[in-house]
Amino acid sequence: MTPRKTGRRSAPGPRVSARGRRPESGAAARASGSRPAASAPGTTPVRFVVNGAEAEVAARPSDRLLDILRGPLGLTGTKEGCGAGECGACTVLVDGRPVNACLFPALEADGRAVTTIEGLGGPAGELSDVQRAFVECGAIQCGFCSPGMILAATALLAEHPDPTDGQIRDALVGNLCRCTGYVQIVEAVRAAAARRRTAGGAR
Ligand code: FES
Ligand code: FES
Repeated sequence: MTPRKTGRRSAPGPRVSARGRRPESGAAARASGSRPAASAPGTTPVRFVVNGAEAEVAARPSDRLLDILRGPLGLTGTKEGCGAGECGACTVLVDGRPVNACLFPALEADGRAVTTIEGLGGPAGELSDVQRAFVECGAIQCGFCSPGMILAATALLAEHPDPTDGQIRDALVGNLCRCTGYVQIVEAVRAAAARRRTAGGAR
């Protein structure tokens, strides 16, 4: 399958006030409930929920969501490819919707819920159903595109439990893969959808 034109995803949705577990790491990140960290000059505190954990990061106006995820929060599963909204390697979910973290201003994350690839697995490190399907179908080779692909597919299945191949391709139109040729990726999403329907929900 030949991928269609890439799609840029940066539009924020409605804000949320989700609450969850404390963040586990991050040099400049801190759990909410403790005393506010002093912000460096020219920075603004961004309070948001990352993978179910409340976090606070001091961000500059020029910072991208990608910068604060990979930097102070240490969530390096989110990849940077083009840095220009063309490849989808940096895809994360903001309030459940896929966005390109390389285009999304860090300050815009305030009050939102962000999911990265680190947030998909179970508490003991179990893979999500979509992650397992990617492995089983051979939809991962070098793996650089995989976090973004898997997050885009996860968002698709949340909205369309039984997607057509066309819907799968449309959902992944902004995610480029240099390795697999896309056939296995579409197959993996289809397999994850079928497994999820059989199981009665995401696993
Ligand atoms: S790194 Fe964000 S779209 Fe390529
Ligand atoms: S698996 Fe290598 S870029 Fe997709």
